[in-house]
Amino acid sequence: MKQVIVSGMRPTGRLHLGHYLGVIQNWVKLQDEYDCYFFAADWHALTTKYDKTEELKQNTLDVIIDWLACGLDPKKSVIYVQSLVPEIAELNIYLGMITPQNWVERDPTLKDMAKILKTKEGQGSQINYGLMGYPVLMSADIMMFNADYIPVGIDQVAHIEITRDIARRFNNLYGEEFFKESKPILNNCSLICGLDGNKMGKSFNNDIKISDTEEVTAKKIMTAITDRSRLRKDDPGHPDDCEVAFKYWSIFGDEQEIETVRCECEKGLRGCAQCKRQLAEKINEKFAPIRQRRKYYEEHIDEVHDIIKEGSAKARERAGEVLSKVRSLVRMY
Ligand code: TRP
Ligand code: SF4
Repeated sequence: MKQVIVSGMRPTGRLHLGHYLGVIQNWVKLQDEYDCYFFAADWHALTTKYDKTEELKQNTLDVIIDWLACGLDPKKSVIYVQSLVPEIAELNIYLGMITPQNWVERDPTLKDMAKILKTKEGQGSQINYGLMGYPVLMSADIMMFNADYIPVGIDQVAHIEITRDIARRFNNLYGEEFFKESKPILNNCSLICGLDGNKMGKSFNNDIKISDTEEVTAKKIMTAITDRSRLRKDDPGHPDDCEVAFKYWSIFGDEQEIETVRCECEKGLRGCAQCKRQLAEKINEKFAPIRQRRKYYEEHIDEVHDIIKEGSAKARERAGEVLSKVRSLVRMY
């Protein structure tokens, strides 16, 4: 029996290269070695966006199309939508009963989310009950498949700690070592910065999307920060001070190319505009197959709906087994 991996993302829009390099690429590798469950966490999206649901469905589709394009394979992994697996909501109820209020109140990630929300207009100073339940619902996601490992970003580790505490408490209360204590596997989210040198993120308007066209990608790359001390294109440049463009080269170029860029830059033989045009070509080359697959799924959206339907049915089957065991351990009717 393979070990189990569970991970999800809130469907908040199309994914960017940071998601690909830091998260999805890793998921794609994991699916050969583990039983993987990957889902769009649409209930979690609702905890903060309950009043803006116009785009929820499309965002859910988009995130899953991005995954498929990047190489998540429905033959290897179970790919599903959280809200299509109602067993998770029932497990959430049992877990909510055994979770002391102060465990969720001291969750640092939740505190950060609450802080951000409070500064946003219209939210007042209240946070909703559903958001308080964020870590419990996340525990239900994870425990639903009795996961061994959870690939997540560092900001999610506090939630996994609560999950382990809840699992331990469940086992103690109901007299059997049924739930495993799931462990995080850390994503490397700092692999690539945004075009302005800050963290890549769609709200910062500094990202390149997996779904961007080659033209859009090239245009965006031309805005990337370079060595700021360089005024003319034949001035000697400093690749190590070229905060974005050279960093991208070191991610996407091969050894030979990186060396050539460095040499030519230092000798003033390479202008930044030309350098970034080449860089854009390099990135476009790398993402061509992914973008092609994305286009295929966009044009065959029924296949995507079927993948989601079948994935969610598979998830429900396994979830149903865990849930019957839970119901019997809790001694429900
Ligand atoms: N909270 C996670 C995030 O924002 C998404 C998520 C929800 C998740 N449930 C999960 C991740 C379960 C891993 C396992 O990134
Ligand atoms: Fe950066 Fe390239 Fe310009 Fe050198 S030539 S500063 S590596 S963009």
